[in-house]
Amino acid sequence: MPTQRVPRVRRYLVCEPRYFDVQYAINPWMTGEAPVDRDRALAQWQGLVNTYLDLGHTVDHVRPEPGLPDMVFAANSALVLDGRIFASRFHAPQRQGEEPAFEAWFKAAGHTVHRSESVCEGEGDLVPVGGFVLAGTGFRTTPAAHREAQEFFGTPVVGLTLVDPYLYHLDTALFVLDDGHGGGEANVCYVPDAFSPGSREVLERMFPHAVTATREDAMAFGLNSVSDGRNVVVPLQAGALADRLAEHGYHPVPVDLSEFHKAGGSVKCCTLEIRP
Ligand code: ARG
Repeated sequence: MPTQRVPRVRRYLVCEPRYFDVQYAINPWMTGEAPVDRDRALAQWQGLVNTYLDLGHTVDHVRPEPGLPDMVFAANSALVLDGRIFASRFHAPQRQGEEPAFEAWFKAAGHTVHRSESVCEGEGDLVPVGGFVLAGTGFRTTPAAHREAQEFFGTPVVGLTLVDPYLYHLDTALFVLDDGHGGGEANVCYVPDAFSPGSREVLERMFPHAVTATREDAMAFGLNSVSDGRNVVVPLQAGALADRLAEHGYHPVPVDLSEFHKAGGSVKCCTLEIRP
C-alpha cells in the first residue's frame, strides 16, 4: 500500500506569456525549428494557472514586458525562502532585462530584495528541500552564488554538478516531491544521468527513498514538475513518469505546455514558489 500523501497550499508567482517567443538560443532546445504558436502558448499557460487554482493554490501575477520573451519562466527570477528574496543575476544578456521587472514586483509586494553578486538563476538552480538548498551548477548558476545563498539564508547549500546540456538547470533534472515542511519525509525525484558521479552519490545519501527517472522522462520535461506534497503537476508528455509517481502514492495532474518546450522550459520553469 502506498503512503497517504498530504498536500500543502502554496503561493506561486507566474508571468503571462504575452511576449513569449524563441528569438535567440541560450540552451540546446532553442533551435527555432518549429515556430512558437503564441495563442496556443497562452492557452496552455492558462491551463497551468487554472490547474493550480483548482488545486487550491494562490497564484500571483507579474506583468509581462515586451522584449523579454523568456520572462514567462518566472522560476528563474529568484529563490524566495523564509520570506527572503535572493534575486537572480542572469547568465544570458538577453534575459538580464528581467531582473528589474521582477525586482519591482517583489518590492511592491513589500519585500526587501538581495540581488546575487554572481550569476544565479533562482529556483532554476536553487531548490529548497528538507532544511537544505540543493544548488545546481555547470551551465548557469555559479558556485560563488551557492556560497552567497548559504550566507544569505543561513541554510546549508549542497552543490550539485550538472553534466547534460539539455538538462542545464537543476529544475530540469530534479524536482521536490515533498519538501518535508508538512511533517512528511523530504523527498525528491531526479534523473541520475544528469549529474556528475560525486553529485549522484550525494543525492543517494541524502534521499535513499528518491524516485529515480530516466533520461527519456527528463527529455519529456518530467523532472520539471511541481508537487504540493500530493498532487504533482507534470508535463503531459512525461506519461511514463506520471505512472511511476502514482505507484508511489502521488496524484499526477498532467498539463500540456509543449509550446514552452521549444524554449527549454515547462511546468516548474513557469512557476516561482513564494515561501512565507
Ligand atoms: N529559455 C530559457 C533559458 O534558457 C528557459 C528557462 C527555463 N527555466 C527553468 N527554470 N529551467 O533561460
